[in-house]
Amino acid sequence: MSTTDDRVTALTEERFERMRPFGGEVPTPVDTSKLPPGPKWPALAQSAGLLRFRHRFVPWAHRKYGDVFTVRMIPRGRPLVLFTRPEHAKEIFAGDPEVFHAGKGNSILGPIMGEHSLLLQDSGEHKRARKLLMPAFNGHALRGYQSLVTELARAEVERWTPGTEFRSLERMNALTLEVILRVVFGVTDESRLAELRPRVNATVDVSPAVLLGWGYPWLQRFGVWKRTVENQYELDRLMYAEIRERRGAPDLAERTDVLSRLIRTGADSGDAAGPDQLGDTELRDQLVTLLLAGHETTATALSWALYEVGRDLELLRRCQRAADDGDDDFLDAVMKESLRLHPVIPMVVRTLMKPATIAGVDVPAGATVGPSIVIAHQKPDNHPDPWTFRPERFLDQNPPANTWIPFGGGVRRCIGAGFSLMEGVAVLREVFTSYDVMSVGDDEPKVRNITSVPRRGARIRVSRR
Ligand code: HEM
Repeated sequence: MSTTDDRVTALTEERFERMRPFGGEVPTPVDTSKLPPGPKWPALAQSAGLLRFRHRFVPWAHRKYGDVFTVRMIPRGRPLVLFTRPEHAKEIFAGDPEVFHAGKGNSILGPIMGEHSLLLQDSGEHKRARKLLMPAFNGHALRGYQSLVTELARAEVERWTPGTEFRSLERMNALTLEVILRVVFGVTDESRLAELRPRVNATVDVSPAVLLGWGYPWLQRFGVWKRTVENQYELDRLMYAEIRERRGAPDLAERTDVLSRLIRTGADSGDAAGPDQLGDTELRDQLVTLLLAGHETTATALSWALYEVGRDLELLRRCQRAADDGDDDFLDAVMKESLRLHPVIPMVVRTLMKPATIAGVDVPAGATVGPSIVIAHQKPDNHPDPWTFRPERFLDQNPPANTWIPFGGGVRRCIGAGFSLMEGVAVLREVFTSYDVMSVGDDEPKVRNITSVPRRGARIRVSRR
C-alpha cells in the first residue's frame, strides 16, 4: 500500500473512532410536566408513529391536541415539542444559534458525513463552514451549473422508451446522482466516474439501522456493517484522490463545479486550513454531506411533480407551453407546489442548549422543538384548498411568510434550496419539451429513512410530442 493510501485509511479510521452515532452533549431536560399535551403512549410507540407513520400520526395529534403538542421519543421519553403556526416557525428559525442547535439531531450521520459536515456542526463552527460554502450556492454560481445540468437531463430523457410504464423516482434518482457527481464533485474522468458510481450508490443507501450499528464497533466484522465500512474506505480513497488531483488541476481557476469553487475559497494548504480555507478532510465531509442531503431530496420532489402534472392534461399543456417558451417561472412554480403538497422532509428540529420560551411555552434545556412542515403546508389558513395541486399559488407571488417551509429556515435554511429548484426547472423543461407525460395509477407518501417518497415510485408513461 502507498503512503497516500495509508494516510487516507488513517483518516477514515479516525472518523469512525470519533463519530459515534449517539454523539453530542445534550443536557437532560428537567421538569417536562408543564409542556403542552400529547399522546400518553410509550415513547417507543410515539417514536414509531412520528418516524414511520408521520403522514397519519402528526395530523391526528394536531387535530387532537391543537397547534402545539409534545411527542415523547426514545431514549427515555425525551420531549419533542411540535409547533404548527407560522409565527411559531418564525420564532424557532430566529432562535439564537448558540441555544437552538440543529447539528445534535443529526449525529446519527456522523460516521458517514464526518465531524466537519455542515449538517452536524453548531455555533461558531457552523457559522464558519456556512460562510465558506455559501458562495458556491449563490445566484451567480447557480447560473454556472445550469448548462451542464440541462445537458445531463437531456441525455437522461433521451433514453426513455415511449409507451413503457416506469417508476419516475428511479430515473430521477439516477439523474440527480449524476448531477452530484458531475456538477457538485466535478468529476469528468470516465474511469473515475465508473468507480465512484457504485460507491456513492452504496453510501446513499445506508439505512438508519446500519448507522446505529456504529455504536457497536464489533458489529463491523459482519454482513451489511462490514460491507458498509469497506465501502466507506473505498469511497474515501476515491474522494481524496479527486480532491488531491483537483488542487493541482491546471484549469482549476476556470472550473465551475462546486468542489473547484470550494477549493478556490482558500489557498491549497491541505489540512492545515486557516479560518478562510477548507482542508482536505473538510472538503470530503462537505461533499458527502451535499451528496446525502441533495440527491434523493431533489429526485423525490421531481418525481412528485411529474406525477401531479401527469394526472392533469390541462396542466401538462401549460407546462409544455412554458417549456417551449422558456417560461421558467411556471416550471419553478410547479416545483414549489410539488414541495408544498408533498414535503420531502416532514419537520425541522432544534435541540435547546438552554431553556427558551417559544409561543409563550417555557421549554427546558435538552428538549427538542420544531415546526411541522407537513401541517404548515396542509393548513387551509396558509394555503386555501390545500389538497389541490395548483402551481399558480406561486406565480408572481410568495405565500405568506413561514407558511411554505420545505427547506427549513433561519441560519440553517437548506443551502441547496436554489440549486434544487434550478435543477428541477432544467429537468422539467427537458421532459416537457420532448414528451406527453401520463401518470399510471395513484400514489401516496411512504417514509424512507428520513424522507417521504412516493410509495409506488410515481409511475408514469411518456409519448413523443
Ligand atoms: C428538494 C430538495 C431539498 C429539500 C426538500 C431539502 C430540505 C432541507 C431541509 C428541510 C433542511 C434543514 C433546514 C433547517 O434545519 O432549517 C436542509 C438542510 C440542508 N440541505 Fe437541503 N434540501 C434539498 C436539496 C438540497 C440540495 C440540492 C443540497 C446540496 C447540493 C442540500 C444541502 C443541504 C445542506 C448542506 C443542509 C444543511 C444546512 C445547514 O445546516 O446549515 N439540500 N435541506
